Amino acid sequence: MESQRQALKGVAKEISRKLGRGATLGLGSGSTVAALLEELSPLLLAGSKKVSGVATSSQIETVASKCGIPLVPFSGSVDLVVDGADQVDQGLNLVKGGGGALLREKVVMSGAREIAIVAGEGKFSKRLCENGARVPVEVVPMARESAKVGLSRVGGVPEERLLPKGYPYFTENGNLIMDAMFEPVEEPEQLERRVKSIPGVVEVGIFTFKPITVYKLKSDGTSETLTAGQPG
Ligand code: A5P
Repeated sequence: MESQRQALKGVAKEISRKLGRGATLGLGSGSTVAALLEELSPLLLAGSKKVSGVATSSQIETVASKCGIPLVPFSGSVDLVVDGADQVDQGLNLVKGGGGALLREKVVMSGAREIAIVAGEGKFSKRLCENGARVPVEVVPMARESAKVGLSRVGGVPEERLLPKGYPYFTENGNLIMDAMFEPVEEPEQLERRVKSIPGVVEVGIFTFKPITVYKLKSDGTSETLTAGQPG
């Protein structure tokens, strides 16, 4: 864990160099982005960068406030988005939404001029859904049953996400999450489109945005920078 933090410090330095004065930073959710912000915020302060953040959940909103990053509403674009991932495939497609923030993460990422993902080396696999990773799917409550049928039709095995004591889990948008198992995914964009077209599905946790930069945090305390797609 200590070496992962060391690797994260290096990534924070690279990200702070990318950010110009007054930049807007999209803030994904989860423990990796939270740790990144703790490393990044002193660097931004030292460089008087006056960066503001767009939060994708109340979790990261709290972290940003503690780190002294002022928050602004999403105006349709951000200069850079920093985010984590649950799984990364060899084409740098992602599974996201383990924390339930996939909808807002996708909205903010769709308006990002640059995308930076940070993930520990254990999250990388050849194809998405290998090693039992499931795809979170956000569904309006009314479509609880029909969306399960729709997901089965596209090859998924959905399971409704519940809180530890069995109560229903609701996202910050008031929707349900179905965590769906799939065979290892050969064509992520196609599966993303097919799941998204099921009535009642609001968003799917397959992210195929390009260009993208992914920082792989390694156990020796270093990181590897991977890119896919052509910038601009
Ligand atoms: C939040 O809903 C997710 O998309 C997170 O980005 C993802 O689950 C990674 O989270 P951790 O950084 O906590 O592993």
